[in-house]
Amino acid sequence: MVPSYRPAARIPVRGAGSRWWDQDGVEVIDFAAGIAVNALGHAHPRLVEALAQQAGRLWHVANLLTNEPALRLASLLTTHTFAERVFFCNSGGEANEAAFKLARRWGNARATGKNRIVSCLGSFHGRTLFTVSVGGQAKYSAGFEPLVANILHVPFNDVHALEAALTPEVCAFVVEPVQGEGGVTPASQEFLQRAAALCRQHEALLIFDEVQSGNGRTGTLYAYEQLGVVPDVLTTGKGLAGGFPIGAMLTTTALSKALPVGAHGSTFGGNPLACAVGEAVVSELLSPALRQNVHARAKQLRTGLDEIGSRHGMWGATRGLGLLLGAPLSSRWVGESGAIVAAALADNVSILQAGVDVLRFAPALNIKEEDVAEGLTRLAAACGRMSRSPGR
Ligand SMILES: Cc1ncc(COP(=O)(O)O)c(C=O)c1O
Repeated sequence: MVPSYRPAARIPVRGAGSRWWDQDGVEVIDFAAGIAVNALGHAHPRLVEALAQQAGRLWHVANLLTNEPALRLASLLTTHTFAERVFFCNSGGEANEAAFKLARRWGNARATGKNRIVSCLGSFHGRTLFTVSVGGQAKYSAGFEPLVANILHVPFNDVHALEAALTPEVCAFVVEPVQGEGGVTPASQEFLQRAAALCRQHEALLIFDEVQSGNGRTGTLYAYEQLGVVPDVLTTGKGLAGGFPIGAMLTTTALSKALPVGAHGSTFGGNPLACAVGEAVVSELLSPALRQNVHARAKQLRTGLDEIGSRHGMWGATRGLGLLLGAPLSSRWVGESGAIVAAALADNVSILQAGVDVLRFAPALNIKEEDVAEGLTRLAAACGRMSRSPGR
């Protein structure tokens, strides 16, 4: 394969719930969930059933026709969110691509030159050329110039910078309610509410990138529900079909008219297999018991992480929302997140990094209390070993 990834040497072959097993049959506790994707863990019986049933019926028809699972999933999403229209695609990056294209077409039709997109430093919106251009981390766009033009970045959570940036030339402001790749940093409510007011004032669209924060991860179906701000466009992907590739852009009927017949499309978007699994996932995510579990396990994980971090002086107070948690490394451990992730895996617990200075935890939303406890025990062992290593 192209050397754009550096996978760990261990290869998972089977999973169940929040545990997976490698080729040697060694069990690993999964606090990573495929980077916030396996929302209901591995091999959830309801998802296996939904996929198997659909696999025996109809795999693909393309968008010259529609299909029942896509209609059912669109109906679920519009029933349970602000949205009235859905565009299905295959990844979070594609969902953002659709949102940015919608914003540009909407703005250009409204006024000459109304096509600037404002985004935040530290943000991550995907790996297509448009999404690395909008994303606020140079490391993802370097070398791919020329980038997409007329994009302005403001510091995250900086209300004054946003006030200066949002002008009548802006067609959209895009923000992650919790910056995921950028370090698991929640947007302040003040920043988001001001953003909504400024977008209204300057007739710009407010786009929430909920690819990572969405699909139950923060304790509500989408994070916006907790923030007192309703976006014009919401993008998601990752956990929406629990590990089956899917992406979705949600918006209103009025704004959806910016993408009339032929303006945008995707061969696989709205694929029946993906949508059948997505329907099963969203139905599960609506259960109050699952939401309760997110809160309870988040509290347990936070408490355990704070205890390990302070015992070894490795990280400060855990931040984040629901089961999207970040542990910012202390100055002595800055730059070591990759090494800590590797040490944790050696002790059979899979965790993530968010940049070089933050550890990230995004387990399945239905993770069990005993799995969190066991994962914390293994992580504590790895951290103890690291902090006692020569030179520390
Ligand atoms: C906030 C956010 N937006 C977009 C993406 C891109 O999603 P995908 O990798 O499915 O294209 C990601 C992926 O990590 C993300 O976290």
